[in-house]
Amino acid sequence: MEFEQNKVIDEGRQGEATVVESTTPSSNGKRLYVESYGCQMNFSDSEVVASIMTNEGYTTTRNIDEADVVLINTCSIRENAETRVRNRLTEFKKRKSDQPELVVGILGCMAERLKKSLLEEEQLVDLVAGPDAYRDLPNLVEEVGSGQRAVNVLLSREETYADISPVRMDTGGVSAFVTIMRGCDNMCSFCVVPFTRGRERSRDPETIIQECKDLFDRGYREVTLLGQNVDSYRWNLTSKGEIKEEGKPTTNFAQLMEMVALISPDLRVRFSTSHPKDMTDDVLEVMAKYENICEYIHLPVQSGNTDVLARMNRGYSREWYLDRIKAIRRIVPDCAISTDIITGFCGETEEEHLDTVNLMKEVQYEFAYMFKYSERPKTLAERRFKDDVPEDVKSRRLNEIIDLQLQSSLYWHQQQIGKVKKVLVEGKSKRSDDEWCGRDGRNSMVIFPKGNFDKGQYIMVKITDCTSATLKGEVVSICEPAN
Ligand code: 5AD
Ligand code: SF4
Repeated sequence: MEFEQNKVIDEGRQGEATVVESTTPSSNGKRLYVESYGCQMNFSDSEVVASIMTNEGYTTTRNIDEADVVLINTCSIRENAETRVRNRLTEFKKRKSDQPELVVGILGCMAERLKKSLLEEEQLVDLVAGPDAYRDLPNLVEEVGSGQRAVNVLLSREETYADISPVRMDTGGVSAFVTIMRGCDNMCSFCVVPFTRGRERSRDPETIIQECKDLFDRGYREVTLLGQNVDSYRWNLTSKGEIKEEGKPTTNFAQLMEMVALISPDLRVRFSTSHPKDMTDDVLEVMAKYENICEYIHLPVQSGNTDVLARMNRGYSREWYLDRIKAIRRIVPDCAISTDIITGFCGETEEEHLDTVNLMKEVQYEFAYMFKYSERPKTLAERRFKDDVPEDVKSRRLNEIIDLQLQSSLYWHQQQIGKVKKVLVEGKSKRSDDEWCGRDGRNSMVIFPKGNFDKGQYIMVKITDCTSATLKGEVVSICEPAN
């Protein structure tokens, strides 16, 4: 069985062609196609890229056959993510032999990690741009047009693309991601992100609020505040919580979330990702105070064993993590909790693995993303430890935790049967035109019969049935807008 294909560990909207068609008043007649892989941050960045390029006169397209420029936004987090992108680049290279003027560029984490080698040694692309270099894309494309290969992989301590209004790529127009910070300073030993996305920096809160207000005015009803470690969000504050510049306002994550929640009771607020070592009770208290902040937290544990956590350089113990779970259950009692888990990290013994299994049984996650450890170049783990857990053992352990998680997801869904849930209507369900879908506050997908309501409306649904993946129900009523 190929575990990485399992739905439970689906890394999201992998490989979708993502940019909706959009035109600009001053079109240069050229068409841009963007494809995104990996985490939500990459999808959000592709929207920034689309905005920068449409301002230069490009029109975005969903049809690669009509593109003049193809950009692929990539992920390096595990080796198989890179393999998938390489296969795609090889296809693009074939396409280029029929269409030599086509510009092919690589963006994101692989661009940052592999830098010039993709251009020079492998000759797979014309252009390489790292995550902090997207403002330079129009120049880079122009350089390629004049016969050169173009590269910019400079990482920045300041770039947050704060002033750029992203071109929204989902066609639904109901839910949007809003980046609030970039980079990561944590240096988890398995993780390549600090090398590919650079130092942590927070975005000006005024621009965040403005973007969320604009989205609400355009009919969006849900925003997800996005960052590698949202609890480290701080504006005009040092990491110790001291004021940087006297006389200027300061904002931490709890305050930012409250500001967003106050835009309208009809704007749902979500956030991702929290870090167990930094998640404070004041964030939970703000969640409890506002009905429109969804009762859902993604809190990656990675392992249930304190020694493994130390080797991973996560900065917390099993006991600390469980204390954070208790705090969530105490302050936001109905909160759904999801996690990330890695099996077979360097030196992981059977007992250490069983600690993860036991922790999962204790926490009862609503959902989990589960992965086999994949050694990444330059990381602390690659330098310090041996990737010594055999592949078949990694797979077996992964299989065990996937089975356990399916039971746990089913358990939570069964608890919802008979309850009436507030659901934000997203549109048609994947399976049938007669069924629509939307999420409840706990982030469960709810399927219900099509009715007399629109995308972006809130409805009350009585849950009648479930699987480990979805809830099913009947519409009880349609909610009136709050104001
Ligand atoms: N191998 C396997 N999984 C990894 N993750 C990050 N780096 C690796 C790696 N080298 C997982 C972690 C993280 C999620 C985004 O990806 O669980 O939380
Ligand atoms: Fe990687 Fe750890 Fe930062 Fe997450 S918190 S991006 S796992 S280094």
